Amino acid sequence: MMFRVLPRTTDDRRLVVGWVPDADALYLFTGPRLHWPLTESQLAEMEGRNGFTAWMLVDDETNTPVGHFDFSLQSGTARIGRIILAPQMRGRGLAHVLVDNAIQQARRLGASELTLNVIVGNEPAIRTYERAGFVTIAESARPGVRGMSRLLEESAP
Ligand SMILES: CC(C)(COP(=O)(O)OP(=O)(O)OC[C@H]1O[C@@H](n2cnc3c(N)ncnc32)[C@H](O)[C@@H]1OP(=O)(O)O)[C@@H](O)C(=O)NCCC(=O)NCCS
Repeated sequence: MMFRVLPRTTDDRRLVVGWVPDADALYLFTGPRLHWPLTESQLAEMEGRNGFTAWMLVDDETNTPVGHFDFSLQSGTARIGRIILAPQMRGRGLAHVLVDNAIQQARRLGASELTLNVIVGNEPAIRTYERAGFVTIAESARPGVRGMSRLLEESAP
């Protein structure tokens, strides 16, 4: 399968809300930042913030969105958030594709470092980030949260 990264649309917001079935899933998705029930307007509200962009991983053949992530970009550091795959797309190795595409997109935005927070115990996510070259940073996180980061080499011409 081939994929593209496209800016999140208003329709995509509705789709992403549908990928988060309950409060526990919301906590893994976004930590304490957003509140159950997740709404499209909570996602929309974040779009007004400085340096914020939100993106979809889209199946090129069918134009179906299969994943989502966002960035808050500040002085060369892109904090990646709200990484999620459509529930029916999980468990097939697509997590790595999603994160690799997020890394490429961060480079396109001019970032030199990526950081993220992941809830302790979210093994599919942690394993995916480690495989993509993220390392755990000691200082950052609150209890129950693991901070991770990855430097971005210059993008290929
Ligand atoms: C996080 C998410 C994108 C991962 O995608 P996924 O398709 O479920 O992940 P996979 O099944 O491909 O698993 C990813 C890796 O973790 C490993 N893994 C899965 N469950 C594991 C477990 N319980 N313990 C250890 N490793 C585990 C897999 O083997 C795989 O590693 P590998 O490719 O090296 O074999 C997806 O689960 C998701 O959207 N979750 C909901 C939102 C979320 O939690 N987002 C993270 C925000 S920080």
